[in-house]
Amino acid sequence: MFPAATLTAFVALAIGASASPVKRDSLITLQLAKTVNTTVPQHIPAADRARVKRLLGKSTSVGVGVGLNQAVTYTANVDVGSPPTTYNLIVDTGSANTWVGADKSYTPTNTSKWTGNLVEVIYGSGSFIGNEYTDTVTLVEGLAIPNQMIGVAVDSTGFTAVDGVLGIGPVGLTNGTLLPNTTSLVPTVTNNLFTLGTIPGNIVSVSFVPANENGTATGELTFGGTDSTKFTGDVVYTPVTTVSPANHYWGINQDVSYGSQSLLLGSSGFVDTGTTLTLIASDAFAVYQNATGGILDIMTGLLTITEDQLTNLQSLYFNIENTMFEMTPNAQVWPRSLNTAIGGSADSIYLVVGDLGQSSGQGLDFINGMTFLERFYSVYDSENTRVGFATTPFTNATTN
Ligand SMILES: *[C@@H]1O[C@H](CO)[C@@H](O)[C@H](O)[C@H]1NC(C)=O
Ligand SMILES: *[C@@H]1O[C@H](CO)[C@@H](O)[C@H](O)[C@H]1NC(C)=O
Ligand SMILES: *[C@@H]1O[C@H](CO)[C@@H](O)[C@H](O)[C@H]1NC(C)=O
Ligand SMILES: *[C@@H]1O[C@H](CO)[C@@H](O)[C@H](O)[C@H]1NC(C)=O
Ligand SMILES: *[C@@H]1O[C@H](CO)[C@@H](O)[C@H](O)[C@H]1NC(C)=O
Ligand SMILES: *[C@@H]1O[C@H](CO)[C@@H](O)[C@H](O)[C@H]1NC(C)=O
Ligand SMILES: *[C@@H]1O[C@H](CO)[C@@H](O)[C@H](O)[C@H]1NC(C)=O
Repeated sequence: MFPAATLTAFVALAIGASASPVKRDSLITLQLAKTVNTTVPQHIPAADRARVKRLLGKSTSVGVGVGLNQAVTYTANVDVGSPPTTYNLIVDTGSANTWVGADKSYTPTNTSKWTGNLVEVIYGSGSFIGNEYTDTVTLVEGLAIPNQMIGVAVDSTGFTAVDGVLGIGPVGLTNGTLLPNTTSLVPTVTNNLFTLGTIPGNIVSVSFVPANENGTATGELTFGGTDSTKFTGDVVYTPVTTVSPANHYWGINQDVSYGSQSLLLGSSGFVDTGTTLTLIASDAFAVYQNATGGILDIMTGLLTITEDQLTNLQSLYFNIENTMFEMTPNAQVWPRSLNTAIGGSADSIYLVVGDLGQSSGQGLDFINGMTFLERFYSVYDSENTRVGFATTPFTNATTN
């Protein structure tokens, strides 16, 4: 048994790298499974906006409906304990606690140790509460992380068919998640791999690919650096923004334009593998909607356009550190093979740019979510407090 606890999960400061390394070895590569759930139609923009509200501390409602796992999820298999149990965890750069036990129960072994803390994280569209343990966590055979702090869920909402979350956000996001140690941080797996000297940098990189395959292991996480086989050209780095609240996350500054029309100038927001769409502030979204001619579809919550409007669709340009990242018209289209998975009709055209649900100028003007990350490689560097982007062989893909 444990007492009920309400903690504030999302009040934190990002911090840089800690311990000085002893030995530096190689990168660790973790394959991701992309799962497509065609079972139940889900309203993706509403779920994404619930997450935004929670991130901004504006929502007190927990677990209202849809969880983090939506039509498409990227998950990794992670071994915990000795002998190990394998858990299937959602990869989330927007939170930093790693936890198990949502679906498959935690199996304690002789490496399991309760820290004496409770843990709670609220995701907006889901949450979990449980006990904080230390245990051996193994991402790749032979490279175990002993005494990794992990949450073990006693109760969770909004998580179906997954066992928990692999949190790879800035470690400051864990501040306030424990009880009674409310101001202690919970080092992420990236932090610990770096401190142990297993990986050469306190860095994790994400490779996602456009979503219309089912269950194939196409995504990849690289701990310690970047995997040059997954991107083209150079990685362009930008410092984590100083603008709050975006600076608590993997926050960046960027300009966004649609064709030659400016949507956001000098704006701050963040990059998030746990958000499905690419979200922009309501005023920018109104301009985008008008310019594309899109109509809000009630069933999916997404903008829908006609074939003619698709022909005239312009690119979206993300100006990051004076480098233009071009999201092509095809990249702005929801994969048509997945239309029915989100409650749409098979022959409609839906757009993956959504309304953030608040106007610009409040320190959070956009979220570059999964649909952006399926076109650009991304690098999360705690050592230098910066985020990097690069084009990929899929940047100009016409798969949607
Ligand atoms: C933990 O259990 C495993 C297998 O059950 C065993 O091989 C290992 O030696 C044990 N470790 C300790 C510290 O007891
Ligand atoms: C698909 O979503 C439904 C509703 O959220 C859930 O009950 C089901 O377990 C999910 N299936 C998979 C494979 O994720
Ligand atoms: C909690 O705080 C106590 C006292 O400062 C410390 O000894 C302990 O290691 C902390 N535990 C965790 C899990 O942070
Ligand atoms: C956690 O947050 C509190 C309140 O903002 C702050 O005082 C404390 O220094 C933070 N702890 C760490 C380890 O950053
Ligand atoms: C994806 O795979 C699951 C399980 O194999 C299956 O139930 C589902 O229909 C597949 N979805 C698509 C879009 O093929
Ligand atoms: C919508 O587009 C029309 C013509 O392209 C323009 O005249 C009008 O000002 C636009 N409205 C908004 C809100 O951007
Ligand atoms: C994508 O296409 C545009 C326009 O044709 C081109 O300028 C750009 O170099 C291409 N990008 C990549 C990564 O192939």
